[in-house]
Amino acid sequence: MISNNLFSLKGKTALVTGGSTGIGLMATVGLVSAGAKVFIVSRKLENCQNAAEELNNYDFEGEVIPFRGDLSSETGISDITDEIYAQNSELHILVNNAGRTWGSELSSFPYEAWAKVLNLNVSAIFYLTQKLVPLLAASSKSDFPSRVVNIGSVMGEVPMGDGAYSYAASKSAVHHITRILAKELAERNITVNALSPGPFQSNMTDFAIGDSKGTMRVSKRVPLKRIGHTDDIAASIQFLCGKGGSYVTGAILPISGGINVSTGPSIFGED
Ligand SMILES: NC(=O)c1ccc[n+]([C@@H]2O[C@H](COP(=O)([O-])OP(=O)(O)OC[C@H]3O[C@@H](n4cnc5c(N)ncnc54)[C@H](OP(=O)(O)O)[C@@H]3O)[C@@H](O)[C@H]2O)c1
Repeated sequence: MISNNLFSLKGKTALVTGGSTGIGLMATVGLVSAGAKVFIVSRKLENCQNAAEELNNYDFEGEVIPFRGDLSSETGISDITDEIYAQNSELHILVNNAGRTWGSELSSFPYEAWAKVLNLNVSAIFYLTQKLVPLLAASSKSDFPSRVVNIGSVMGEVPMGDGAYSYAASKSAVHHITRILAKELAERNITVNALSPGPFQSNMTDFAIGDSKGTMRVSKRVPLKRIGHTDDIAASIQFLCGKGGSYVTGAILPISGGINVSTGPSIFGED
């Protein structure tokens, strides 16, 4: 049978953590423009409300619903899942995007930079998913598995620390837990995949690519010679969450302009 709606998300409900800024906002754009009802949650309610207002002004079939939540504690995660269970009888898509980083030289890298980063980037993904699996499983259809998409990073794939030691390690952990959960949740008809982005403009990367000079400098280091755009994230989310992606699980999708396969000069080539 030939299908012409491989990327449609009409009638689907999604949750995007940190969905009001940066890569989370790009994922939200992908979901809502494909027709999904998208809940976005983060600590700053005003940011979520502003993003929802802006996207709801477009002529999309989907809608964005903002709420406040903090993923940095077990109670905060429970509050978020309570809200989702209270407002929805179905949840088809979970995008675990919220994250943080910490950059410092090796010699002065502080002890607390490990717990804080791993707590949000790894523990919160695991516990939020754990609590939402029953709803995701109950919402999955035989021809449309429910989806979890984790936001990893190219820094979790290649040994580029850039002083973000705990961050890079946390993103490797995100990729690994993605594969483990993909294996375990297949029998509940839930796919689990990750995006592994390279440089995208956001609050997190503002220090490096917040202006055109920085963007040009960083672009030169990317094999495809540019930083990422909203379309790059939106399209990959639509693929992984649409009908067309329903046979893909355990994938770590590189959205990094080739950084993931950049190994430097050839071994035997001329200088
Ligand atoms: N930008 C890049 O180049 C890049 C590359 C690879 C991977 N990533 C990943 O992409 C994801 C998004 O980062 P970003 O670059 O888009 O930076 P960002 O704009 O700083 O996004 C981080 C988001 O997480 C939310 N957040 C932070 N702490 C939270 C908490 N305790 N509870 C709930 N929400 C929280 C923030 O909202 P509040 O402050 O309102 O809570 C914000 O919306 C991260 O996982 C990051 O590691 C980014």
